Formats: sequence, C-alpha cells, structure tokens
Amino acid sequence: MTAYFQHTDPDVFSDPDRFVPDRWLSPDAPKMARNFVLFSRGSRNCIGMNLATAEINFMLTALFRPGAPKFELFETGETDVVAVHDYIVPLARLDSKGFDFSALWYQPNPHSQAAAMSQAEDSASYDCIIVGAGLTGIVAAQRLLQAHPETQLVILERDYCLGGVWGERRNYPSFWSQWTHGIAEFSDMPMERPPPKDCMHDLFRAKYTTNYLEDYVNNMSHSGKTLRDRIQFNTQVQSIRKTNGQWNVICLDVNTNSQRSMCSPKLMMANGQASIPNVPHFAGQEYYSGQIIHSIDFGQSDIVQDQSIEGVYKNESGLFTGA
Ligand SMILES: Cc1cc2nc3c(=O)[nH]c(=O)nc-3n(C[C@H](O)[C@H](O)[C@H](O)COP(=O)(O)OP(=O)(O)OC[C@H]3O[C@@H](n4cnc5c(N)ncnc54)[C@H](O)[C@@H]3O)c2cc1C
Ligand code: HEM
Repeated sequence: MTAYFQHTDPDVFSDPDRFVPDRWLSPDAPKMARNFVLFSRGSRNCIGMNLATAEINFMLTALFRPGAPKFELFETGETDVVAVHDYIVPLARLDSKGFDFSALWYQPNPHSQAAAMSQAEDSASYDCIIVGAGLTGIVAAQRLLQAHPETQLVILERDYCLGGVWGERRNYPSFWSQWTHGIAEFSDMPMERPPPKDCMHDLFRAKYTTNYLEDYVNNMSHSGKTLRDRIQFNTQVQSIRKTNGQWNVICLDVNTNSQRSMCSPKLMMANGQASIPNVPHFAGQEYYSGQIIHSIDFGQSDIVQDQSIEGVYKNESGLFTGA
C-alpha cells in the first residue's frame, strides 16, 4: 500500500487533507506516531531518515521564504494532484497530464531593467562579486583571495555594519552564541577567549563573535587591501541578471537612494537565510497593543530592557529562557 494512503487514513489522522501541525499536540498524537511508517520501522528502516527530513525542511524554506522564486500552476487543477489510485506509488486520475508549473526566478522591475541596460557600459567591473558581508561572505572572500590575491573582488553589504546575524546592529546584551570557540573561529586567526563571566559552559556572549569578525576583516589583507576595504556598506543588491556570461548587478545606495551597477563573470550569494524579515500575521494581532518586532530589529529595540514586559524570562547569566 502506498505511504500516501497509509498516512491519510481518517481513523488515525483526522481530517487528513488539512494542514494542521497542531495535530501532533493533540491526544491523538501517540496513535498517529504509532502509525507513522513513512520511513518504515525496525532494524531495516530507512537510514536516510534524518537526512531526508533535513532536506525537506531546507527545500521548503528555500522555496517559500520571501524573495524565493514565484511559481504559477500551468494547466493543473486539484484533480491532477489528489491521489485516487494506488499503484504502489499514489496516482491522480489516470487521464491527468500531471502536475505542471512555471517558475519565475526573477521578475525584473522594468525601471531597474532599463537602468541595467543603460548603465551596463558604465558598470564597475570586477572578477568576483560577493553579496553579503556576513560570516559566509567574509570567509568566502578570504579563501578566494588567499588562493588568488590579485582578484578584483567586492563585497556588497546592505547594512552599515558587517557580520549579518552577528553584526553590531543586531546585537543585544543577552544574545549568546550557540557555538564553542573552536567552531566560531576561522582557522587562520584565533579568537580571543572570553572571560569566564561571559561564558556559560562552552558558549559565550555573541559580542565576541561580532568583535572577532570586525578584527578579522581588518587583519586579512591581500595585494595591499584589507577585506574591510573591499566591503561596500549600505549597498543593497536589487537585481541580478546574467547576459553574455556576465552577472549584471544593480544596487541601491541606501544613504543616497541612488542606483549603481556593476558586473562580473563570478557572483557569490552569501545573503543568509535570516536576513529578509518575514513577519507573519498572527490571529488576533489587531487586538494586541504591544510591539511586534522581528528578530532582525531586536538589537535596536528597547524591548530587552523593558522590565514591564511579562512572559520574558532571564536567568542569572542574562540568557533568555522563554518568551
Ligand atoms: C538570531 C540568530 C542566532 C543564531 N545563532 C547561531 C549560533 O549560535 N550558532 C550557529 O552556528 N548559528 C547561529 N545562527 C545561524 C546563522 O545564520 C549563522 O551562524 C551565520 O551567521 C550565517 O551567516 P551568513 O553569512 O550565511 O548569513 P547572515 O549572517 O545572514 O549574513 C547575510 C548578509 O547578507 C546581507 N544581505 C542580505 N541581502 C542583501 C542584499 N540584497 N544586498 C546586500 N546585502 C544583503 C545581510 O545584510 C547580511 O549582512 C543564528 C541565526 C540567527 C538568526
Ligand atoms: C522522504 C524521503 C525518504 C523516504 C520516504 C524513505 C523511505 C524508506 C523506506 C520506507 C525504507 C524501507 C524500505 C523497505 O522496507 O525495504 C527505506 C530504506 C532505505 N532508505 Fe530511505 N527514504 C527516504 C530517503 C532516503 C535517503 C535521503 C537516503 C540516503 C541518503 C535513504 C536511504 C535508504 C536506505 C540505504 C535504505 C535501506 C535500509 C536497509 O535496508 O537497511 N532513504 N527508505
């Protein structure tokens, strides 16, 4: 029997066609868990179970996060996807042409497209453009320059500071790292060991990672230019197009609100997975009079210091343990 029908049995999974994650908190949870056999059970069950689950999570977040490609169904209706036959694999109606869609990876803004065309000749030209001066962008630049010090490389960073998640703007006193020194430092520069008061077991306050990254870009130098010299701050990448083997990148100077363009045969995206805020709508939020803040703005808000807020707890070391 196909796994699809096994896991849509209404006697076990009530209202199976509805997306109800809370069902796993209901009294039915033990019964459902007992009947969850997607990866089989016992000594010959799937050895790729954890990898597959991680891949599914990764794929879903990549597909549905803000800025992800947009999909449009093409000649596909509900009866093309609802399984009604069991041929070991689940099948929809047999005369269905299947599931079809088109993906719009990039929807050019006509204005920026026109700007791209007209500015292409004035574009600054590089060997490599890296988008994002977070941890990934910084270390990618360093490794490339170590191997090819003459590379004309630029790092475009939307923020006024570097570090992304660990950047000075997003930091707040009770932000702690969840990694240990050995993992947090790059192999070519040791990290200052934080004093015991700023450590809890092997973890330490996030500001040490911020300071480390700031020092790192100052210290790493190739062909007379530090990594910091190569970062263009307050530069938000707005669109990217590939023409004639060149990546044409249009950026907005956040301070002057003016656009500029640049091109390169190599482009590296290091713009992170948590840097585009997505604040969902919460049921009843219109009746809530407090602030709703995305974690990206947490460090800049005064909410951490606000003693009147209930439901936010700190332990002796200042770590948030619940909210
Ligand atoms: C609150 C929080 C806590 C975390 N704690 C830990 C931890 O303790 N341990 C751990 O291992 N991991 C942790 N992580 C995971 C974290 O994502 C990684 O540690 C790491 O910081 C990712 O680095 P990155 O450079 O890939 O992305 P980011 O740090 O997100 O950097 C991306 C950069 O790209 C820039 N950018 C984005 N879009 C554009 C654009 N259009 N134009 C120009 N620039 C752009 C952003 O401003 C940012 O500076 C945490 C994540 C979050 C959100
Ligand atoms: C959603 C994805 C996946 C599902 C639903 C799934 C499901 C299953 C099931 C039901 C079995 C048992 C088959 C049987 O009874 O003979 C199985 C076995 C197995 N799976 Fe997966 N699997 C998935 C992904 C993966 C991945 C990603 C890998 C490896 C990278 C993997 C590797 C294996 C192996 C090696 C076995 C045989 C184990 C053994 O016989 O001891 N699977 N899988």
